[in-house]
Amino acid sequence: MSGAARAGARVIGRVIHALDEVGSTQAEVARLAAEGAPEGVVVTARHQRAGRGRLGRAWWDQPGQSLLLSVLLRPPVASTRVPQLSLVGGLAVIDAVAAETGLTPGMRWPNDVMVGERKVCGVLAEATTRADGVDRVILGIGLNVNQESFPPDVAGRASSLRLLTGRVHDRERLLATLLEALDARYREFLAESEDLRAAWRRHSVTLGAHVRAADGREGVAVDLDETGALLVRTADGALLRVVSGEIAGAPAA
Ligand code: BTN
Repeated sequence: MSGAARAGARVIGRVIHALDEVGSTQAEVARLAAEGAPEGVVVTARHQRAGRGRLGRAWWDQPGQSLLLSVLLRPPVASTRVPQLSLVGGLAVIDAVAAETGLTPGMRWPNDVMVGERKVCGVLAEATTRADGVDRVILGIGLNVNQESFPPDVAGRASSLRLLTGRVHDRERLLATLLEALDARYREFLAESEDLRAAWRRHSVTLGAHVRAADGREGVAVDLDETGALLVRTADGALLRVVSGEIAGAPAA
């Protein structure tokens, strides 16, 4: 654990680069990381020309209507724990959205924040590893805040906080609450606290659902292991560990 995190000082969001238009905030943070930027630096943008989602997908935004941010993390952990950082990001979004809007979002494994059947936020953890562990992780978060409509290809499965509450939300305020929540959840991650998995179980909309892994194996999601993998019980009683890819009923938005 870094000295700052041990001492209880804030790690995430002490330095924020608020940009107008970029290709991707992920790329901006990668550039800062290569220049030796400290852990916790945040880049936000009003609009991304080439926003990236998971599995090589694009991430659409309407200028000025989303929270688009990437955070540089340098966790001193084994690379097997990186997938947990998507949960850290998703849980922080749930904390912040609940506090600021009164909505009760859920977490769809591995990285989607949902309100009912609609996706409001996606999380992307991009890691660079060394032989002995993680070099750095860029944690990207795209939260739909004030959009009034979506492009036809995602309109049926995405939503925004505005559409869900009927109110316009203050993006600056949401960002401040989100960074505070992210700092607290990241601390739990560093401390290997059981609180993280407990929170995931509380907020999960995947637990108990019938899911199908990318390779076709299917069963009921019964838990999350300590690395962030989904544990799935098949009809013949076997326990599968699903580490990546999509699961049925979990289309991207
Ligand atoms: C997903 O659900 O596929 C993950 C989407 C992550 C989008 C965010 S927006 C800010 C950051 N910059 C990017 O290019 N992507 C992430």
